[in-house]
Amino acid sequence: PRRIDLAVIPGDGIGPEVTTEAVKVLLAAVGTDVEVALTEYELGAEHWLATGETLSDATLAALRTHDAILFGAVGAAPGDTLVPSGLIEREFLLKLRFSLDHYVNLRPTRLYAGVPSPLADPGVVDFVVVREGTEGPYTGNGGTLRGGTEHEVATEVSLNTAHGVERVVRDAFRRAAGRRGKLTLVHKHNVLVYAGHLWKRIVEAVAFEFPEVEHDYLHVDAAMIFLVTDPSRFDVIVTDNLFGDIVTDLAAAVSGGIGLAASANLNMDRSAPSMFEPVHGSAPDIAGRQIADPTAAILSAALLLRHLGLDGHAARIEQAVEADIASRTGTRTTTAVGDAIAAAVS
Ligand code: NAD
Ligand code: IPM
Ligand code: MN
Repeated sequence: PRRIDLAVIPGDGIGPEVTTEAVKVLLAAVGTDVEVALTEYELGAEHWLATGETLSDATLAALRTHDAILFGAVGAAPGDTLVPSGLIEREFLLKLRFSLDHYVNLRPTRLYAGVPSPLADPGVVDFVVVREGTEGPYTGNGGTLRGGTEHEVATEVSLNTAHGVERVVRDAFRRAAGRRGKLTLVHKHNVLVYAGHLWKRIVEAVAFEFPEVEHDYLHVDAAMIFLVTDPSRFDVIVTDNLFGDIVTDLAAAVSGGIGLAASANLNMDRSAPSMFEPVHGSAPDIAGRQIADPTAAILSAALLLRHLGLDGHAARIEQAVEADIASRTGTRTTTAVGDAIAAAVS
């Protein structure tokens, strides 16, 4: 049989709880068709507290050798004074996304049948956000002067390269061409005139390669109105790293909750493994209680299988999730949800 070699990073908080279920479902879905090698890596805030490692060169090199990475979530609780906010996020998660060149952060949003949306009249919600993953305000290109004084100056520079924007925009057009043929650039070129105009120009230029795709533009603030009042207008949204982060938490909320939102950090050139993770974080407020919804992690495992060419197995997971969601009543433990979906795909 085909063999796939996966790295698994459960992480912190609910990360291990939901990742256990994602692995369970993935293994059930592939059955004996695919031989799966799993290597678990202990990383995250707890691991840093215990060892001082955020992400060493040796660990990064080891992660590179796998076909793909399945990741849960990392991060300390907001009030945690032992782990400085931003340390694990920057030195582990963003370091991974940047080092492995995950330039397409793909975040599909669907309102499944039977899922209550907070919107009174959501219509058909089925779009994907193509969030740039390696640039923007996330590059750590900033600093502080006269720290701690009343004259302190802090900068956080947004880095946008023509190369970086073009490759993610082209990917978004390709996806739109394979879907309903509509792309929306979300940015803020009325204020961010340098980055905004670069994005706009590149979208206009790449659009010539995709005459079958209709494209429009929304300022990010107005886009947030339509995401709530008329989400069915969206097919593919392409946007920068920070806007994409914010847009996708709202997208998750309007489509039934953060517990359902999956994501893929894709290296489309396949020069390094891609990484699959729920959109949500380590949720310290509910960790260790078996009440986290593992669906986002399970759907992320389906995205992993699809990226490795195992479309049929991915679809089996997605169909089982859809059926499970449609029949949800009352509350189940994290394990119970995973068990039910695993049973359905076996
Ligand atoms: P969060 O996504 O962890 O939690 C936000 C809210 O959503 C919480 O009330 C939480 O209980 C709820 N929630 C999240 N996932 C859920 C699930 N599967 N089922 C049910 N409810 C769920 O965001 P936060 O509280 O802002 O961040 C907590 C920590 O996680 C921080 O340290 C942050 O930096 C980190 N974080 C990590 C990632 C990641 O690893 N990819 C993503 C976001 C945040
Ligand atoms: C996400 C998270 C991360 C991001 C943080 C934890 C670095 O919020 O994956 O959405 O901002 O990308
Ligand atoms: Mn986020």
